[in-house]
Amino acid sequence: MNIAVFASGRGSNFDAILGAIRHGTLPARICCLLSNRSDAGALSLAREHDIPAVHCSRLQYPTDEVFADGMLEILRTHGTEFIALAGYLKRVPTSVVAAFRHRIVNIHPALLPAFGGHGMYGHHVHEAVLAAGAKESGATVHLVDEEYDRGPIVAQRSVPVLPDDTPETLAARVLTVEHALYPETLAAFARGRVRVDGRRAWILP
Ligand code: GRF
Repeated sequence: MNIAVFASGRGSNFDAILGAIRHGTLPARICCLLSNRSDAGALSLAREHDIPAVHCSRLQYPTDEVFADGMLEILRTHGTEFIALAGYLKRVPTSVVAAFRHRIVNIHPALLPAFGGHGMYGHHVHEAVLAAGAKESGATVHLVDEEYDRGPIVAQRSVPVLPDDTPETLAARVLTVEHALYPETLAAFARGRVRVDGRRAWILP
C-alpha cells in the first residue's frame, strides 16, 4: 500500500509510521510526505529518509479548485493509494476526500466524538479535556470526510487523566499511544482488515 502522509508540524507520528515499516509490522511504503508548511519538521524527516518531500500550500495556487487539482496531481504522480493525515492542520479539499473515499484517515489526540471539531488541535484539545474534568482521554484514528473530526471511527485507545496532569503531561501520554495506534491501524488497512459500512468502521479480528 502506497501511503502519502500529510503533516504540518514536527512529524513524530510520521516517524512512528516509518519505524513500523522499518520493523516490518506495517506492510506499506511511504510514497510522499506532503506539507502545507515549508518549515515543517516532517519535511526534513522525509528528506533524511529519501522520501519525496512536497511543500504544497494553497498560497501557491490561484484558486481553491486549482489547488485541489494540483494536490491530486501530486498524489497521482507518486502513485498514492492511501492518505494518512499526521498533524495536518488544514482542511483537505473535498475533491481529494472524494477521490480517496474510505482511503484517507486522521489521528486525533482525544477520544472522539468528544473534544474534536474546528479549533480542537494541539494543546487546545488537552486543555479542554482537563477543563471538563474527564477521567480519561486517548487517541482516535478515523476516516476523513467533509467535516472536521467527524468521519467513522476506526480505532481508539484510552489513557488515564491523572489528578496533577497539565496539558503537556497529558499530551505526552496520549502521544505515546498515538505512536503505537496509528501504525497498527494503518497495518490493518494495508492487510485489508478494515470494513466500512455507512457511518460505521471496524477492524476484522
Ligand atoms: C498529534 O497529536 C496528532 O494526534 C494531531 O497532531 C499531532 C501531530 O504530532 N493530529 P506530530 O507532528 O505527529 O508529532
